[in-house]
Amino acid sequence: MAIQDRIQELIELREKARLGGGIKRIEAQHKKGKLTARERIDLLLDEGSFEEFDMFVSHRCIDFGLEKENYLSDGVVTGYGTIDGRLVYLFSQDFTVFGGSLSEMFAKKICKVMDKAMKVGAPIIGINDSGGARIQEGVKSLGGYADIFQRNIMASGVIPQISAIFGPCAGGAVYSPALTDFNIMTRNTSYMFVTGPKVVKTVTGEDVDQETLGGADVHGKKSGVSHFTVDGEQEGIALIRKLIGFLPQNNLEEAPWLECQDPIDRFEDSLNEIIPENANKAYDVKDVIRAIVDNADFLEVQAEYAQNIVTGYARFNGMPVGIVANQPSYLAGVLDINASRKAARFVRFCDAFNIPIVTLVDVPGFLPGTAQEYGGIILHGAKLLFAYGEATVPKVTVILRKAYGGAYDVMSSKHLRGDINYAWPMAEIAVMGPKGAIEVLLSRELSDIDDEKAKVNFLFQKEQEYKNKFANPYVAAKFGYIDDVIEPRNTRFRIIRALQSLATKKDVNPPKKHSNIPL
Ligand code: HXC
Repeated sequence: MAIQDRIQELIELREKARLGGGIKRIEAQHKKGKLTARERIDLLLDEGSFEEFDMFVSHRCIDFGLEKENYLSDGVVTGYGTIDGRLVYLFSQDFTVFGGSLSEMFAKKICKVMDKAMKVGAPIIGINDSGGARIQEGVKSLGGYADIFQRNIMASGVIPQISAIFGPCAGGAVYSPALTDFNIMTRNTSYMFVTGPKVVKTVTGEDVDQETLGGADVHGKKSGVSHFTVDGEQEGIALIRKLIGFLPQNNLEEAPWLECQDPIDRFEDSLNEIIPENANKAYDVKDVIRAIVDNADFLEVQAEYAQNIVTGYARFNGMPVGIVANQPSYLAGVLDINASRKAARFVRFCDAFNIPIVTLVDVPGFLPGTAQEYGGIILHGAKLLFAYGEATVPKVTVILRKAYGGAYDVMSSKHLRGDINYAWPMAEIAVMGPKGAIEVLLSRELSDIDDEKAKVNFLFQKEQEYKNKFANPYVAAKFGYIDDVIEPRNTRFRIIRALQSLATKKDVNPPKKHSNIPL
């Protein structure tokens, strides 16, 4: 064959591969409001940066008539490219080929890009849209999944792993995204569950549809499986690009610093007024976050799950940080099971990837009650404690208002190797709130008072005494547990100075195989 014919053959084969399962199935995909695997890659990567691998791979199955049905690429598009000039590896499942189902060769293609990403130390992004194991391939498909899981596990804490769920993701297929660092789900077009509605009906008798069982809102609000819920794929892809901007390439590098136009010594007068006079009144801690970070730009993670704690990424003078903040406007910012799990995972991610942690504290304590105790708040709360105590990245803490009881210890206190700990003048750092403390300490005296009015007066007076003595930042500051009491409007500047002073921080944990975090 002449060279021109060979080249023509190559062009035709590429064209064929690019069509995946064919025009009809592409149209069906579009009709569902979904993009194709390749359209998603085009949107995600910098223009013209995609280099594809294994376009000519096809399956090797000869059962159930599959020997007569074969598609180039075998249902998954893989390769590498750049996002804002930074290298990423990726795979994008093609629903137009056997419903994006995973075959032996499909899994091998994914494993290849995962191995490459690990070798060069670059993030891996997986776009999921699949009917699960390719039924015709049987156990080979199961083996393929497990090969991917093993790589997810080895890559954990080494390179960032991001999963977008833009269609079905069911059965054991859910475990690869679950092992990655971030899951993004599209509302109405994606779902994740271990067993689908039909199996649920057979086994438990429960009637439930896909959306109610494992839609984006379920995992964004209730289960905490998903980190970001988006209205469409374009929004999801833009979000991945933004998220990547906050992350390092791997665990040996730092996240990219940006040029900062926002003055570092910008006073934010509103912060002097933000804490209500009444300690039981709420305010929105996200107003504090937006007021102090560069350009009010805050990328919240798990915004709708366990809203009593806020987690996300922002920059201080161009330096990316992870922010953890109790949210007084939701359940008074109390720590409960879900909040502890959410923040613990976030802190551990930041620590694994050299991202400093800024913690804003306003916490009345742990949520009391049987539901929490039976659910294991002891273990879950310990996760957050463990995560902070284990973290060796720079840790800057500001106590805005309440820091009571065990929650004071947990929230990146000095005692858990917090590096620089500040408090606002309104901070109350004590074993418990004034009311609870007086009721415990003076219960006998209280029961001796018959007159209701006298009781109220007595309580008020003792609460004031307690407040004056304990509900302030100066007792903690006296012992060096707080490095300084700072004026709220100057918080941005003080945090930036603290982070600058910690830029060369080195801290290590004792050598061990791995820790035994209370899972
Ligand atoms: C092979 C599959 C497939 C699969 C879908 N297809 N799932 N082929 N193996 N698992 C094919 C269909 O035959 C069809 O082919 C095309 O993909 C599109 O599927 P439709 O059903 O027409 O699409 P839709 O109506 O959108 O429904 C999508 C779906 C449904 C909900 C995902 O296809 C479905 O329920 N599939 C089976 C899901 C499943 O049970 N998977 C196994 C899970 S167990 P044509 O030729 O018509 O285009 C599992 C174990 C993993 O995954 C364990 C790992 C540890």
